Amino acid sequence: MGNFFPRWTNWLPLKLAIALVFILAGVTVGVSYYFTPKYTRVGYEPTQPVPFSHKIHAGQLGMDCRYCHSFVEQSGHANVPTNQTCLNCHGVGKGGIRTASPKLEKVQAAAASGKPIEWVKVHKLPDYAYFDHSVHLNRGVSCVSCHGKVKDMEVVRQVEPHSMGWCLDCHRNPESKLRPLDQITNLDYLASDLDRKSFYQGLLDKGVKAEEIAQVIVGENKPAPTAGGIDDLLALAGKTFGKTVSQQEVGTQLKKHWQIQPPETCAACHR
Ligand code: HEC
Ligand code: HEC
Ligand code: HEC
Ligand code: HEC
Ligand code: HEC
Repeated sequence: MGNFFPRWTNWLPLKLAIALVFILAGVTVGVSYYFTPKYTRVGYEPTQPVPFSHKIHAGQLGMDCRYCHSFVEQSGHANVPTNQTCLNCHGVGKGGIRTASPKLEKVQAAAASGKPIEWVKVHKLPDYAYFDHSVHLNRGVSCVSCHGKVKDMEVVRQVEPHSMGWCLDCHRNPESKLRPLDQITNLDYLASDLDRKSFYQGLLDKGVKAEEIAQVIVGENKPAPTAGGIDDLLALAGKTFGKTVSQQEVGTQLKKHWQIQPPETCAACHR
């Protein structure tokens, strides 16, 4: 019976064993690549069916993000615009912009056929993670914190990891990002551009007490300062933060008075 199989088969168990080791190693590398929080798609920049440029539209032309991503403040999902939005300017007819451009051929064809342009998705969370745009935008988090300076991009690419650790970094320390709601789509916003007086006056006008604002300026665990009104607040803020408004200054006030408490429990993002 021993001679029934050719000789080389004696080596078969060893070959199988070696192959198995390689397969297992490959699987391990693959699994850890996909499942560790470090796995990111930073730099992902797919080619789009139409060479649409945010740099032209949102940058040079200064269009607000919400002109095209019109539901981003109301809905969990940000929408990509329909053909009609493009045709507002690029529609064939009187005053249509660049309608004969080859770069707009697919836009015209889509409009004629009624089929949407098949944009390639750039950002994608796994299905088991829950995310809602409107919650973030209505609480003072800007597009730029999660998508970078899209208005300078010829082609959109992912610049932030969108990993669990990255989400939690901000959830634990939101004051480093919070800004007034009218600055949500201003990707160039800097806290130092704010007028300190209007900022604090705005809080007072909303009914926040001067003493509460003062307490946040000096820090929650410091002895309570006395502050009667706007002049006291300006003096205190100048002493604490210096001449220009700082992000820490704005962020801590907004966090406190808007009662911002981003969730860190598993069930908030995995429902
Ligand atoms: C004139 C319309 C228009 C304006 C204005 C506009 N966008 Fe877009 N945006 C698009 C289109 C079309 C796409 C899909 C094609 C692409 O990815 O370039 C897109 C895609 C994106 C994506 C990638 C979506 C994905 O697939 O993950 C992000 C992020 C984005 N836009 C952010 C912004 C931000 C931030 C602003 C404001 C600074 C803005 N957009 C302004 C039309 C617009
Ligand atoms: C508010 C008006 C407006 C809207 C809406 C708009 N565009 Fe434009 N688009 C322009 C202007 C202005 C230019 C610049 C033309 C130039 O450079 O002379 C332009 C340029 C372009 C170009 C480059 C054309 C070329 O030949 O260089 C493309 C492609 C384009 N747009 C696609 C789109 C798409 C796709 C949409 C919808 C998602 C869209 N645009 C929505 C105004 C608009
Ligand atoms: C707190 C982080 C965060 C903020 C702020 C944010 N986004 Fe997003 N955005 C994401 C994530 C995460 C995804 C992927 C969502 C998914 O796959 O479910 C995404 C996806 C998108 C998409 C693709 C949607 C689709 O279904 O194709 C667009 C467009 C977009 N964002 C635009 C914007 C615009 C415009 C703003 C500002 C007005 C903005 N985002 C603010 C995190 C953010
Ligand atoms: C730049 C800061 C920032 C980043 C990045 C961020 N968040 Fe948030 N998140 C917030 C703030 C602020 C709130 C609002 C908290 C509040 O209203 O008290 C929030 C609220 C939430 C909520 C609760 C809202 C609800 O609908 O229950 C969920 C869920 C959430 N974020 C998921 C995510 C996920 C998932 C990511 C990563 C893909 C992410 N967030 C990234 C700042 C951030
Ligand atoms: C703020 C939102 C948020 C919270 C809170 C959160 N997660 Fe996640 N989690 C995510 C996102 C987003 C991903 C997807 C990451 C990716 O695609 O890289 C993820 C991925 C995961 C994964 C897949 C493996 C990995 O690390 O990528 C596991 C397991 C997980 N979460 C478990 C948990 C547990 C357990 C908790 C509670 C201790 C928790 N998560 C809390 C947002 C959250």
